[in-house]
Amino acid sequence: MKVLVTGGIGYIGSHTCVELIEAGYDVVVLDNLSNSHPAIIDAIEKITSKRIPLYVGDVRDSDVLDKVFTENEIDSVIHFAALKCVPESVRMPVEYYDCNVGGTISIIKAMKKYGVTKFVFSSSATVYGADNPVPFKEDFPLSATSPYGMTKVAMERILTDTANADENWSVALLRYFNPIGAHKSGLIGDNPQGIPNNLFPYIARVAAGIYPELSVFGNDYNTPDGTGVRDYIHVVDLARGHVAALDYLETHKGAEAINLGAGHGYSVLEVLHAFEKAVGHKLPFKFMPRRAGDIDEMCAHTEKAEKLLSYKTKYGIDEMCEDGWRYTKKFYGIE
Ligand code: NAD
Ligand code: UFG
Repeated sequence: MKVLVTGGIGYIGSHTCVELIEAGYDVVVLDNLSNSHPAIIDAIEKITSKRIPLYVGDVRDSDVLDKVFTENEIDSVIHFAALKCVPESVRMPVEYYDCNVGGTISIIKAMKKYGVTKFVFSSSATVYGADNPVPFKEDFPLSATSPYGMTKVAMERILTDTANADENWSVALLRYFNPIGAHKSGLIGDNPQGIPNNLFPYIARVAAGIYPELSVFGNDYNTPDGTGVRDYIHVVDLARGHVAALDYLETHKGAEAINLGAGHGYSVLEVLHAFEKAVGHKLPFKFMPRRAGDIDEMCAHTEKAEKLLSYKTKYGIDEMCEDGWRYTKKFYGIE
């Protein structure tokens, strides 16, 4: 069975391609390279011994989609392609709505044209907004505090309406918590362009000596050590969740929102200390004021994923840090 993976050479997409290939799927990637490098195709080949076709193009380009769907017998789509930086979305909301919502509508139209009805969507825990109690359950009311988050809420709605309008459609709205870590090979991982917004790649660069210290944003949160708590999930576990979702869509119609998280939260300081363990020495940090828009705690309710997808995460925080550090060392040629 052939899966079209949009944004398939990005961080989560590349790990998902590996898991799909290892599960026996044929994979085709469409990516506009706005946040990725074509050499990731070589890395995926090194890991899996399979060369996957890469179409370089934009999901909003109907000519490119025609080419992909006519040259391949696509059975299902996993749609990662999107812009994902929260502060950037505040500065450039129209670009975010255009790429994320416009891209999703464009893919849905192509799927309708070519009779493809299975869709796995990259949603985010950000759709739970700032007012829900933890752990977040799939039936909680949705809201968002940024244009990025609003694009996810809007895309979930569009996909749910699409599935409601056509009984042949099967949609998994996967709400990711905080993916970190890297593939065990050290060949693929998270390597954001510019200064990372997210905690894990920033710690990795402090450990690699690129930045002098970590700024810990806020130590007065309502959490055990005062720093923000998040539900970190190993990116390989997250990728496995997509394979489980595709299996589920084989036998289920309609749209389902499903959390993908570990169901356990760690504070910023706990993640820093786990990374120090992987590196083998202390890492410098300083406390800074809270970052605008951050909340005390985010954590997934995981029962639905367990029940519907028979899914449980395998890797703990120590492996997330060991694997992330292996990738960072390889990337910067350390040791
Ligand atoms: P990423 O930036 O590494 O990957 C996205 C890929 O999509 C990139 O390779 C990029 O070049 C490509 N792309 C972007 N716009 C495109 C377009 N218009 N047409 C074709 N290709 C395009 O991001 P990621 O971390 O792998 O995230 C993947 C998805 O998961 C995104 O939808 C993101 O919003 C969602 N998500 C990510 C996180 C996270 O923390 N990384 C958390 C929740 C949800
Ligand atoms: N943090 C620091 N220092 C940093 C970066 C982050 O202390 O340099 C803290 C944050 O304040 C927060 C925690 O580390 O308490 C995690 O922050 P991240 O930026 O790594 O992750 P977020 O939970 O803020 O956001 C991520 C994705 C969003 C997504 C959200 C929910 O970046 O796209 O998870 O899925 F919406």
